Amino acid sequence: MKIELKDNKVFFENQGLKKEIHPFWLRERVNGDIHLDKKTQQRLFDPTELKKDVKIENLNLSKNFLEITFNDGSYTKLEIQNIFKEFANVNDVKYINKVEWDSSLKNLNNFEFKDNFFEEEEMYKALIYFYKYGFVIFKNVPTQNNFIVKFANSIGSIRRTNFGEFFDVKSKPNPNDLAYTSLSLAPHTDNPYRNPVPCIQMLHCIKNEVSGGLSTLVDGYTVTQKLKKKFPDYYKILSEIKVRFQFVDNSVILEDWSEMIQLDTNGDFKQVRFSPRLDFVPLIDKEKLEIFYSARKKLSELYNSKEYRIEFKLSPGDLLMMDNYRLLHGRTSYDTNEGYRFLQGCYIDYDSTEGKLKHLKRKFNL
Ligand code: OGA
Ligand code: ZN
Repeated sequence: MKIELKDNKVFFENQGLKKEIHPFWLRERVNGDIHLDKKTQQRLFDPTELKKDVKIENLNLSKNFLEITFNDGSYTKLEIQNIFKEFANVNDVKYINKVEWDSSLKNLNNFEFKDNFFEEEEMYKALIYFYKYGFVIFKNVPTQNNFIVKFANSIGSIRRTNFGEFFDVKSKPNPNDLAYTSLSLAPHTDNPYRNPVPCIQMLHCIKNEVSGGLSTLVDGYTVTQKLKKKFPDYYKILSEIKVRFQFVDNSVILEDWSEMIQLDTNGDFKQVRFSPRLDFVPLIDKEKLEIFYSARKKLSELYNSKEYRIEFKLSPGDLLMMDNYRLLHGRTSYDTNEGYRFLQGCYIDYDSTEGKLKHLKRKFNL
């Protein structure tokens, strides 16, 4: 990447392609103390109030800086590196490549919790792992009641739901969700009926005295890629038909419509939702439904197959943080006569992890 000047115009060259940078784009980025609040990086002027026909009067290019004087009298010294960064969008987490994994994954992405952990470089590493694998496990997190709230709020802000700020996952009488029993839970994503679906789930193990109740994880991204390759018709229908996900209890009815495999505008993986006790396909043509049901069955087979699932036991102090748009989670059944199994859970959204990651990157100059 390179900056070049000609006739009071600024050109940006990338891989042999040279284009002029709009002078207004540069004018909006004036950064002297009178234009920009240093602490918040917020503009002290409103760019929508500037005249549209801003022109460059004077330019000077050195190794690291571009100095510009505009025809409205404003002057700025821009770091070339910052212009490159804006072009490449290098701060974006979508440039952290996902690692596809299956049952052969051996490294469970463990990170030791310690005081001041959230401001350490180790936290940055944990977050990078989170974006690569879709989960991390923090070890030795204090098992005080609702410590998870403090934990979540130290990364970002907790995402409250109708289950509360956090929820107790244990077998209880009259449960309003199968999670609150000792039954096995097949791989699923949480809260597919919410709009928006909570991005990230945390489960903190407080007590685990039973021999069953193993935690399971499946990489929905790996399975989606597999389905796309081996069963393209199934992939197509599951990424086209919106189904209704529903949760009903005494105080609320929650519904949201979405494809089971949701793609972004480029047709790339965005999100999976899977919870076959809560999904309702619309009344469409019988022929289409025939394919849809075969597709959902195949998808379920893959999600439930040993080939893709990892299984492990959470010990007291372990805190599992997983991407609810990418991973499916579940547990094996357990016997309440053997003792207690008690987890606490909560949700956060992507802005929490992304905000923290960018902050730590800036702090440690990474
Ligand atoms: C849940 C859940 C898994 C477990 O509460 O959403 O899936 O290990 N729990 O109990
Ligand atoms: Zn769950």
